[in-house]
Amino acid sequence: MKTLVVCDSNYGNTKLIALEIAKSIGESAKVVLTKNFKEADLNGIDLLIFGCPIIGWRPTETTLKVLENLKGKLKKDLKFATFDTRVKLFIHGDAKEKMAEMLRAAGGKRVFESQAFYVKGKEGPLFPGELEKAASWAKLIKSKM
Ligand SMILES: Cc1cc2nc3c(=O)[nH]c(=O)nc-3n(C[C@H](O)[C@H](O)[C@H](O)COP(=O)(O)O)c2cc1C
Repeated sequence: MKTLVVCDSNYGNTKLIALEIAKSIGESAKVVLTKNFKEADLNGIDLLIFGCPIIGWRPTETTLKVLENLKGKLKKDLKFATFDTRVKLFIHGDAKEKMAEMLRAAGGKRVFESQAFYVKGKEGPLFPGELEKAASWAKLIKSKM
């Protein structure tokens, strides 16, 4: 199974989650930063995972731009999952569902429910247990493949 994890990260927390997901999936799952993503990275993949922090109630600008450009371009029903990182606020906005909506518009099919991971402040760190949560989430995704 070939997996690509695409992630945006300002302070490194989302990247830590992405690396943990890739490690948990194993099988040489690859992590690429959204700013470095190229459409050719999608060649031959079976699973695409997108993650980013919530910034101003929504996905990062880079993520939105990449996903807009992918509209209608994914291999039909390519399996995907999405996650975001966020602070614990009463009103926090969303990135994971918006990314899922855009990946569906790109032609993909959600394989497992999206997941939120929590940071303590805008620069982090991650709350205790979030890396373990990422590893478990990734294993559940793998079991759906
Ligand atoms: C300018 C800015 C706006 C933010 N807006 C939100 C927000 O709307 N909702 C939220 O839950 N977190 C918000 N955050 C917190 C980020 O989600 C947090 O910085 C991020 O999860 C950390 O991940 P990273 O280390 O990968 O950048 C914001 C952070 C910054 C710097």
